[in-house]
Amino acid sequence: MKVTVTTRSGRELVKGGLQLTDSATVADLQEAIHKRTKRYYPSRQRLTLPLPSGSKERPTVLNYKKSLKEYVDGNTSELTIVFKDLGPQVNYSTLFFFEYLGPLILYPIFYYFPVYKFFGYKGDRVIHPVQTYALYYWCFHYFKRIMETFFVHRFSHATSPVSNVFRNCAYYWTFGAWIAYYVNHPLYTPVNDLQMKIGLGFGLLCQISNFYCHILLRNLRGSGAGSGYQIPRGFLFNIVTCANYTTEIYQWLGFNIATQTIAGYVFMVVAAGIMTNWALAKHRRLKKLFDGKDGRPKYPRRWVILPPFL
Ligand SMILES: NC(=O)c1ccc[n+]([C@@H]2O[C@H](COP(=O)([O-])OP(=O)(O)OC[C@H]3O[C@@H](n4cnc5c(N)ncnc54)[C@H](OP(=O)(O)O)[C@@H]3O)[C@@H](O)[C@H]2O)c1
Repeated sequence: MKVTVTTRSGRELVKGGLQLTDSATVADLQEAIHKRTKRYYPSRQRLTLPLPSGSKERPTVLNYKKSLKEYVDGNTSELTIVFKDLGPQVNYSTLFFFEYLGPLILYPIFYYFPVYKFFGYKGDRVIHPVQTYALYYWCFHYFKRIMETFFVHRFSHATSPVSNVFRNCAYYWTFGAWIAYYVNHPLYTPVNDLQMKIGLGFGLLCQISNFYCHILLRNLRGSGAGSGYQIPRGFLFNIVTCANYTTEIYQWLGFNIATQTIAGYVFMVVAAGIMTNWALAKHRRLKKLFDGKDGRPKYPRRWVILPPFL
């Protein structure tokens, strides 16, 4: 089979095209493109079928697992493919690791080291119990997220653009340092003991629930269920589509009840906004995938992220 690979502007990427066996898959084609171009490794490549000129439709993205024959029209043995460079890629686990490592390291620096001297506070710092518990709580949260990244999540996308590392790290590292600065501040005024216990107790319960949600999500792709999206079921997933985001937001609420800083609440609101957007997209995708037609199951009635708001 002869495959012509063009760029979106119509230029031929691989001069003279590529000759592949009739049983070749899209993954074989990606390898062949890499071999010839040297630069574009498979995860950098986005391969689509060409669209008629002027068409406003979205092009069909080639699935790397499928045979190239499935994309050929009729009996011809020629195929034209449009190539897009997605730019340098990084593993999802690497991306997550670096975004969580920042807050895990930065927060204790504010607790353990005399950083406030550089901000003009000369006196001795009295550490309140809530500041110590908040440190444990914070570190447990980010340590858990790193462990989940490597040992729990089963990502469907292997890689993400390198630029996301800088964007996501800027988000987590800046918020982490900002919250740490206020919670560990020498002039910090603690809440009363009961409020601290309620906040941290509730937050911890939500962190454990969040972990359990991630186990349930992991099992959706376990033993023969396939690598695609499934209907999440069990525990809070019987009520909300994105129970993991719900528990994430509530665990930050618990932290904020106990520590009570504006920085912490701002982070929670921004994070809730981001997760709500993602949850709406996930909810829509699952409803589309499981539409109850042609033997497919129908997606059950669920809240999106937080009953009774969405
Ligand atoms: N504080 C914040 O700003 C913030 C923001 C976002 C997330 N988080 C935390 O980080 C955690 C992970 O975030 P995330 O956005 O990666 O969560 P996510 O998209 O819900 O995914 C978690 C894992 O489950 C898989 N998954 C999700 N829905 C599935 C379905 N219906 N069928 C099969 N597999 C499914 C995902 O696969 P895919 O790889 O295919 O998606 C991924 O591997 C969240 O639960 C939350 O605790 C915090």
